[in-house]
Amino acid sequence: MRSREEMLQAVNYDESKVPQYVIPSPLQKADGSTVRDAAEWVNFQRPRILELFRREVYGASLPRPDSCSFQLLSCKSDAYMGLATRKEIRLRFEMADGKTHSAEMLLYLPNQATAPVPVFLGLCFKGNHVTSSEKDVRITGQNYPGNQDLGEDKRGLQAERWQFPEVLKRGYAAATLCYHDFFPDHVDGWQRSALSLFYAQPDSPEVRAKHTAIGVWAWGLSRALDCLEAEPGIDARRVAVHGHSRLGKTALWAGAQDPRFRLVISNDSGCCGAALSKRYFGENLEVIVNVFPHWFVTSFAQYARREAELPFDQNFLISLQAPRAVCIASASEDLWADPRGEFLSGAYAGEVYRLFGADSYSPTQMPAPGGRLSGLVSYHLRAGKHDQTGEDWQHYLELADRFLK
Ligand code: GCU
Repeated sequence: MRSREEMLQAVNYDESKVPQYVIPSPLQKADGSTVRDAAEWVNFQRPRILELFRREVYGASLPRPDSCSFQLLSCKSDAYMGLATRKEIRLRFEMADGKTHSAEMLLYLPNQATAPVPVFLGLCFKGNHVTSSEKDVRITGQNYPGNQDLGEDKRGLQAERWQFPEVLKRGYAAATLCYHDFFPDHVDGWQRSALSLFYAQPDSPEVRAKHTAIGVWAWGLSRALDCLEAEPGIDARRVAVHGHSRLGKTALWAGAQDPRFRLVISNDSGCCGAALSKRYFGENLEVIVNVFPHWFVTSFAQYARREAELPFDQNFLISLQAPRAVCIASASEDLWADPRGEFLSGAYAGEVYRLFGADSYSPTQMPAPGGRLSGLVSYHLRAGKHDQTGEDWQHYLELADRFLK
C-alpha cells in the first residue's frame, strides 16, 4: 500500500491527464439491453441500481426504529427579532428491547406564514449552535468524543453557510441536526452511532462490511423528515434536502433512498458525491477509502486505483433522483471536488430524466464561474473556494420557488 504522502502526490489536477474513460449508462440492463420507458426504470432498473449502491458503496438501508418520539425542548416565538419561531426538538428512537438513541433538531418556522410551509433540511458539521447567529441555541454535536471544536466559542461560526434569515424571509422553514448525533465522524465512531439500535456490536467487521457512516447520516435525514411530517407548520410534501461536501454526498444518498425529498441539493460533494470517479481528477477512490474508511462498505476499497473497473459512476446516483429536482453546486477553486466531474454527472443523468419527459443540460454547456443552469437537473459554478455561501443559496431559493411552491 502507498503511504498517505504518495497517495496525495498521485492526485491529478491536470485536465490533460484525465484518462480515456467510458461512462456507463444507468439505462443499460445486466443483459445488455436498454431500459425503454419510465415504468421499466421505476419498477426494474431503479431498484437494481439502488441495490448496487447499497452493496458496493454506501451500505444497506436501515429500517425505522420500533418507535420514535419527538420531544419539544424549547420554543421561542420571537427568534431573529420576530422573523421566526424557533423550536428545538429531541428525536428519541427506541427499540422493543429497550435500546435508545437520540438526536436534536433546530427548526425555524417563518412567522409570516399563513399556511404550512416548505422546508430546507440539512445536517450540520459542528453542532446546531454553530449554524445560527442566535446566542441561545442549544449546543449539540457532543456525541463526537473529545472534539474541542464544538463549544460555546464556536457559536454562529458557520451561520453564513445556513443563511437562516434569508431563507425565512423567502417563506421557507429551515431545519438542521448535527451529523455526529447519528454517527460520530471518526473511524471509531461505530459504537456511539445509531447502529447501536440495531446491532449489539456495531463495531464488528460484519457491520462494517454492511453499513457506513454516510448510510447512517442519510437515515438520520429520513428520520428528521419523519419529525417534520409531525410538525403542523410544515408542508412535508415540499422538502428540500441539502448538504455540503461529505454531507452533500449524504444528501444525494438520502435523496436516492427516500423519494419524499422533492429537491435534492449537493454542494461541493466531490468524490463519491456528484463527481465522476472515472475522471480520476482531484480526490480519488484510493485516497477517500484510506482516509475515511468508515464512510464506505469495506469492499468498496477494491476499486481504489481501479476506477475504470467500476460498473457504475456517480451519474447513476444523480439518476436515482429522477424525476425530482436535483441541484449540483460546485466552486471554481475547489479542484479537490472536481467541479467538471460534478457538472458532467448531472449531464449524464439526463437520459433517465428524458424517460420522464424532462431533460438535463448537455455535457458541452459547462458554465464559467458565476454561471448557472437551472432546470430539473441544475448546476452552478460559484467563483471561489470549497464552502457554501449566500450565492449558493440564491440559486437554491430560486429553484425552491420553482419546484417547491
Ligand atoms: C475531505 C474529503 C472530501 C469531503 C470533504 C468535506 O476533503 O476528502 O471527500 O467532501 O473532506 O466533507 O469537507
